[in-house]
Amino acid sequence: MKVTLSVIKADIGGWVGHSSSHPEVMGKATEMLEVAKKRSFLIDYRVLACGDDLQLIMTHDRGEEDEQVHKLAWDVFWAGTDVAKKLKLYGAGQDLLTDAFSGNIRGAGPGVAEMALEERPSEPVIIFMADKTSAGAWNLPFYKMFADPFNTAGLVIAESLHKGFAFEIQDVKAHKKITLNSPDEIYDMLMFLGAPSRYAVKRVYSRATGAIGAVSSTERLAEIAGRYVGKDDPVLVVRCQGDFPAVGEVLEPFGHSFIVEGWMRGSHHGPLMPVAFKDANPSRFDGPPRVIAAGFQLANGLLVGPRDLFDDPAFEPARQEANTLASALRRHGPFEPHRLPLEEMEYTTMAGIMKRLGQRWEPL
Ligand code: F6R
Ligand code: MG
Ligand code: MG
Repeated sequence: MKVTLSVIKADIGGWVGHSSSHPEVMGKATEMLEVAKKRSFLIDYRVLACGDDLQLIMTHDRGEEDEQVHKLAWDVFWAGTDVAKKLKLYGAGQDLLTDAFSGNIRGAGPGVAEMALEERPSEPVIIFMADKTSAGAWNLPFYKMFADPFNTAGLVIAESLHKGFAFEIQDVKAHKKITLNSPDEIYDMLMFLGAPSRYAVKRVYSRATGAIGAVSSTERLAEIAGRYVGKDDPVLVVRCQGDFPAVGEVLEPFGHSFIVEGWMRGSHHGPLMPVAFKDANPSRFDGPPRVIAAGFQLANGLLVGPRDLFDDPAFEPARQEANTLASALRRHGPFEPHRLPLEEMEYTTMAGIMKRLGQRWEPL
């Protein structure tokens, strides 16, 4: 059976500040998606939140980029924005860049990760959702899951994974893409993946079967809007087991905290902290950046789950590590490498300062 899993997310208002999502907004989204399920438009849905980002997880049989599915998400986000405005939540409607829907939600602000798949006899999937960071944050875990034998034992010892995976990499600034094969081309690949502010992995395919294994949202809000409107706060959908890495291999990259772009004002490096759903409310210095993992078994498109996969004491050391890294970085205050390089900061006063001080700069 061919099922499409669509994860569409947007920040339509924070409670309090940019730290969390309000239950009334989530309730509105649930109410509307329930109507869509009742009239058999959707097979199933879940409404989750990571920080101030509302996550619509939907299954249906309409394929990727379906205008009606995108329109439904758009309507849910606008209805949620009305609730957010009533409660005067912070940044109500922040990610909705236009009033009018133009047939596809991509490019209109929300993040999108969709996968049409032939459902296997058993279909475990994990949906990762992050807040206070950008799309390139998935590059490192993508590489570890699908290309690093120190992370994924199956690449070495399981016949079904041994041929490796193909990575579709997008240049989010030049709007180009390339597909590179692992393991043959990993040194070329890492040249790009190691620069996550510019290059982001969009999809991964099994080289044994050609089947899709993972898809991310690579929308870069700042590139779309031409100005700062918030960090991308990306999502990532990964199929597990069989021809793909096992659940534990997919989660393993988060066994250590690593540094991503985002955090306060989208202008800092900070550690990504894997947390349980209940802890996905970034508050210290608007962070540190968070990631949650929702596990599901698909059953003819029904979403059996979620299991809150980082709600596991085994990820406690990674959380401790993130707190230690957060404090070490915070001590740098306004200095790089805590603050992002000039061209990557989402907020800046540089133009105004240079205008004011321009005359006072003298040749050396
Ligand atoms: C980062 C983020 C927050 C805000 C910060 C300032 O992605 O959302 O760190 O950038 O709280 O917000 P404003 O400018 O809305 O006061
Ligand atoms: Mg926000
Ligand atoms: Mg957010």
